[in-house]
Amino acid sequence: MQRGKFITIDGVDGAGKSTQIDFICDYLAKKNINVILTREPGGTELGEKIRTLLISTDTQSMHADTELLLMFAARNEHIKTKITPALEKGDWVLSDRFTDASYAYQGGGRGLSVELITLLEKWVLQDFTPDVTLLLDVPVALGMSRVESRSRKDRIELETHDFFNRVRNGYIERSKQFPKRIKLIDASKTLEQTTQQIKTILQTL
Ligand code: TMP
Repeated sequence: MQRGKFITIDGVDGAGKSTQIDFICDYLAKKNINVILTREPGGTELGEKIRTLLISTDTQSMHADTELLLMFAARNEHIKTKITPALEKGDWVLSDRFTDASYAYQGGGRGLSVELITLLEKWVLQDFTPDVTLLLDVPVALGMSRVESRSRKDRIELETHDFFNRVRNGYIERSKQFPKRIKLIDASKTLEQTTQQIKTILQTL
């Protein structure tokens, strides 16, 4: 049995992940590839409970370290009970966000040290890594204007323009550090142009 591929999609809030996720699922289904769509934080029963704690506006005062630890607690459950078993069965897995988000949000946005995040990554992931990461990049003002149109913003979406600028820069830094895995996609173009960039990448898998 051939191991499945692990694809992650990431970017600042409002980068347009949802539309592109629909496209990727359709594209892979047409190729008769069984794809499991999942997300972070979340993806498992326990992970979804942790997600509720993380994004609820009731927990406004959460310490940044707690936020990072909860992200990795949910991720540990996700990898060990859902992602790895699926890949071993030969299914493909598409995750809406993954570890790069911790570097961008908790590292870039919250200013936590990269060494700390790497420590957790080494513990929880060991050498497990996505086959490809689609990084949707948009100017923060555009992302924020899309988030504004949502009915209710979650705890993290309530952050400032400066915070999201640091998040965006964090993602761009990661893509420079891992240029083979992380594909930086200009998602400020039309939907079709963005989809086309993704299609070209998927064809290489
Ligand atoms: P979502 O809005 O894309 O579903 O993600 C929920 C929020 O969680 C989003 O604002 C990004 C944030 N997040 C982190 O801060 N760190 C992480 O490691 C992950 C996976 C998500």
